[in-house]
Formats: sequence, C-alpha cells, structure tokens
Amino acid sequence: MGDHRSSPIIRMFHVHKNYGIQKSLVDITLDIYRNEFIIVTGPSGAGKSTLLKLLYLGEPVTQGQVIVDGINLTRISRRRIPHLRRNFGIIFQDYKLIPTKTVFSNVALVLEAMGEKRRLIQKKVHSVLRTVEMEHKQEALPPSLSGGEQQRVAVARAIAGSPRIILADEPTGSLDPDSAGNIMTLLKGVHQKGATVILATHDRMLIENAGGRIIHLVQGQMSENA
Ligand SMILES: Nc1ncnc2c1ncn2[C@@H]1O[C@H](COP(=O)(O)OP(=O)(O)OP(=O)(O)O)[C@@H](O)[C@H]1O
Ligand SMILES: [Mg+2]
Repeated sequence: MGDHRSSPIIRMFHVHKNYGIQKSLVDITLDIYRNEFIIVTGPSGAGKSTLLKLLYLGEPVTQGQVIVDGINLTRISRRRIPHLRRNFGIIFQDYKLIPTKTVFSNVALVLEAMGEKRRLIQKKVHSVLRTVEMEHKQEALPPSLSGGEQQRVAVARAIAGSPRIILADEPTGSLDPDSAGNIMTLLKGVHQKGATVILATHDRMLIENAGGRIIHLVQGQMSENA
C-alpha cells in the first residue's frame, strides 16, 4: 500500500505558505525519501521552521499539496490528525519540556498518549533515557537541568515512540560545541536505525559534518546542492 522503500515518505508539491501578506514559503516542490538525512538551512527568517511546521500540521498550508506517508494534509479529516502526528518525533530549539513534570514523566507522556501499557512505558523510557545518558536524572525537574541536558531529554522524548520521521528545529541552537556534537551523534544514531531525519539549522559546523542532503531556503525560496 504505497509502502515501497523507493516511494517518498514526504512530498511537497508547489507549496506556498503566507502569514497574512508575509510570503514565508514560495513554491516549494520537494520529495523526501525514507531514511534520508535532510538539512534545511538558510538565514534567519528564511522559512525553515515554517517548512517543518507544515509537515505535522503545526500550521496549515496556504496553497499546494503536502503528502505525508500517503496522507494528503490539505484533505485530512480532524479525526486523523493524531494518526498523522504519530509519524513524527519533534525536537524544538527551546526544548518545550513540561517544567512541573519529572524527566521520566516528560518522556512517558508520549507513550501514554499512544495508549501503551505501563510496563512497556517503563521499559521504553528507561531505554531512551539510557541512550541519551540521562537515566540518572529521571526524577529531576527540567528547570534544574542544563540546556544540553534538557535537549537530551527532548531527544529522548522525540525518539521514545519510535517515530518514522524526526523533525529537529535548531536542536543545538543554544548549546556549546560539545553538547551540540552529542545531539548530532544521537540524531545520526536514530537515522542509522532507519528514521528519516529533517534538521533545520544555520550552524555551519553541523552542516559540514552531517553529510546529509542540503536544502537551502532564502526568503522562502528553495534551492538544493547535490
Ligand atoms: N506565526 C507567524 N505569523 C506571522 N509571520 C510569521 C509567523 N511565523 C513565521 N513568520 C514569518 O515567516 C518568515 C519565516 O519564519 P521562520 O520562523 O520559518 O524562519 P526561520 O528560517 O525558521 O528563521 P530562524 O532561523 O530565525 O529560526 C519570517 O519572516 C517570519 O517573520
Ligand atoms: Mg526557525
């Protein structure tokens, strides 16, 4: 059922996104294949975050088609939006952890929302916290953690439900080079396990070291280097 390895997991076809009179994305046509590692780059205000938001319906498309795993987002029924979002693990620049919940609970929430059983949730949360080396802080509250630690928890949360697509919006924006390197290693790890990774960043170092396919945005217009 359209599940060929060679068929794109994401298709954008002549996509425009306007915020009022602001044209944030202009005529984007882009196919992303399973298990690609995509870097979306370009100056501040170029439309990187906007592009990511369109994929999980964080924002509606103004014009054109976005298709995720065969689901046309311009025609999706409200009932199916949770199903769409399960495809994605999302890492935000500002982490967006719940400050009043422990590290463990922040990660567990995703799995609870998926209706997983308690035993499995326990196992899974421990396993992803171990992956990001944050198991020892599972009872801590996010405000007591460093930026790098919070971002590692955010990565754990993003990968906990084994999503097929990881969206990472400037995940290293506020981190020192060592912590940034750590996050990149984690992203490469989930990529190696088969996930499709889409990383928005303007960090030159990351771009040069990542070795992925690079999408450039400038004022909402796309170009690509091979
Ligand atoms: N909710 C919104 N309402 C109005 N305009 C918006 C909104 N979100 C983004 N924009 C505008 O759309 C353009 C693209 O913004 P976007 O956040 O996608 O850029 P970006 O490439 O992610 O930038 P940065 O590197 O600073 O994160 C900008 O001009 C921005 O002002
Ligand atoms: Mg942005």
